[in-house]
Amino acid sequence: MPISISNRVSLLAPTAVNSILAEVRQAQARGIQTISLMRGEPDLATPVHIVEAAQAALTAGRTGYPDNRGEMRLREAVALKLQRDNGAAYDPAAEILVTTGATFGIHAALMALLNDGDHVLLPDPVYDAYQSPIRLAGGVPVPIASTPEGGRFTLNMEALDRAARHPRARVILINTPWNPVGTVLSESELGAIGRRVVDHKLALISDEIYETILYGAARHISPASLSPELRERTVIVNSLSKTYAMTGWRVGYCAAPKPVTDAMFLVLQQSSRGPATFIQDAAAAALSGPQETAAAMRDIYAARRTQVRQAFEGHPRARALPPEGGFFAMVDVRATGLPSNEVRRRLLHEHGVVVAHGSAYGPSGEGTLRVSFASGGATLANGLARLTQGLAAL
Ligand SMILES: Cc1ncc(COP(=O)(O)O)c(C=O)c1O
Repeated sequence: MPISISNRVSLLAPTAVNSILAEVRQAQARGIQTISLMRGEPDLATPVHIVEAAQAALTAGRTGYPDNRGEMRLREAVALKLQRDNGAAYDPAAEILVTTGATFGIHAALMALLNDGDHVLLPDPVYDAYQSPIRLAGGVPVPIASTPEGGRFTLNMEALDRAARHPRARVILINTPWNPVGTVLSESELGAIGRRVVDHKLALISDEIYETILYGAARHISPASLSPELRERTVIVNSLSKTYAMTGWRVGYCAAPKPVTDAMFLVLQQSSRGPATFIQDAAAAALSGPQETAAAMRDIYAARRTQVRQAFEGHPRARALPPEGGFFAMVDVRATGLPSNEVRRRLLHEHGVVVAHGSAYGPSGEGTLRVSFASGGATLANGLARLTQGLAAL
């Protein structure tokens, strides 16, 4: 008789990226050479001054347990950053929590806010890794449909209204810039979401991990900066993963009113206990040091975004929807007449190019593929060549 696994874990599903990676490994074992345009993994190096700060901290023996709320130096750097970049004031002693990436921040926020059966409203399509932690915390994901209008995915506000009025509605979870569709929510869109949050006494979890990767006139706004009422109902979740190319460092932070931060702190104290002390020192150096590196990375992504748009110009079957922010482009493949997962599979097996299917992110993503330009160079050039040729050959 094998050891039985808990019912709780049966609520969890692998992320789309991990499921596709398993399929890619099988294809590679059969001899298919693959190029991946799937992951949100920057190919850029963490800036040198951040690496040096970690090395100096290690040399100085900063290897003991960290303050579980986050080292005070880092919490102060987060507070200054939130004021400087987001126009939001938070008390580093009581309202900021340092987490093991945004992933842990989202988990802690959901654990702190949800009771069994509470509804979490989230845009559809959306980053699929929100689903399992919602279920683990006892919540019920409620997708709010969105449609691409004029090349830009927009939330259906009537659907949001209906869901927000439900007696079990508890949390709205958004991310802007929005993975996977690339929309950067405008001040009026955020204001409209914020009014629903305040009117129905909900909580807003705002995942702002792509905040610095913006194109053209797009401007990132943190909903917490819109009004004192909304700030009182918002949990900001952020991390250094994308802004500073630090995905493997596993460091992020949250900001929320004290009662919520205290509850999240209990969740953290009884589980991860926060990122390593020397990593927190490096994170403080990243947030308080020169920000030109983030701007330089954005320029690199902007050039890759243009490369994606140009690759699809005049394509007979597919249309690229270049994002307003982030490093994913949605590609509209409805003209193929095939489900997006079938298109993805055939691109992998017949053309050796790996992308994510839009339906992995929710039903409103059907008919699209998510193409990452987090990696550039030969990967992007050859991957786009295979992708555009593969789609034309379908
Ligand atoms: C929207 C969004 N939130 C959170 C994460 C995870 O972030 P972290 O590396 O900080 O855990 C990702 C990673 O791709 C993401 O796309």
